[in-house]
Amino acid sequence: MNKTFIQDAFGTAAKTYEQEAPVQKWTAHLLRQYVESLGLTDVSNILEIGCGTGFLTRELMEVFPEATWTVTDLSADMLETCCQNVAVEATFQQMDGEFPTLEGPFDLIVSSLAMQWFADLPAGLGRLSDLLSPKGHMVFTTLGSKSFQEWRRCLEALSLPVGLHDYPTLQQAQSFDLTGRAIGVSSRIKKQDYQNGLAFLKALKSIGAQSPKSGYRAMNTKELRKVMTYLDQREDCAMTYEILLGHIEGK
Ligand SMILES: C[S@@+](CC[C@H](N)C(=O)[O-])C[C@H]1O[C@@H](n2cnc3c(N)ncnc32)[C@H](O)[C@@H]1O
Repeated sequence: MNKTFIQDAFGTAAKTYEQEAPVQKWTAHLLRQYVESLGLTDVSNILEIGCGTGFLTRELMEVFPEATWTVTDLSADMLETCCQNVAVEATFQQMDGEFPTLEGPFDLIVSSLAMQWFADLPAGLGRLSDLLSPKGHMVFTTLGSKSFQEWRRCLEALSLPVGLHDYPTLQQAQSFDLTGRAIGVSSRIKKQDYQNGLAFLKALKSIGAQSPKSGYRAMNTKELRKVMTYLDQREDCAMTYEILLGHIEGK
């Protein structure tokens, strides 16, 4: 993971993110509903990882307006945008959530669609779990292995390099080793329509999510044209997002 590249890409996208992020908005609402279903009554301090422009922050600030909030992101520009978008007072801190530099404990740690950018997800989750209070909960969403399968299949069919990251399968996520801590993970499939392959790539760029996996060789114009032609032959250009919803409890 090139964290500087990721940070710059999201920073540049801070102003365009919300117009091109329907799946992220849907996912933040899903996470809110899950947190509400837990019926948590004693949540006094909350840590958010990878707030972006604040889709999840706003959802959960409506649920816990009295809590003490620490809202973090890798990108200073995303943090600034989030700060402008929320109504509840909070501490905003630039931080790589994979290597938290904060002192816990927190009653609730939340994160929506940010942890797929961790280089080592189980290790990052383990470090974050250590910040939970004994009665605390960590609830997060991240991408699963079925995400963008249409794009992957197209590139493989054309024998072209695949820049997609290797997201965990549901089974892999359910068996993450968190040094004795139990993890519950479930999966939801969300399909998002795009006008064509180019619109999909442009949308990824508008939300800052275009950073490829390490070692990826970018396609040249001729290769990219082949991909677009291949995708144009399909009836639609829907892309699968597999949303993994995880829950870890304090101990
Ligand atoms: C797809 S956006 C999701 C933002 C927001 N949570 C939402 O639901 O819309 C991913 C966010 O995670 C941030 N991010 C990426 N890697 C991160 C890391 N290692 N630590 C903290 N934030 C990170 C990015 O800067 C970006 O703001």
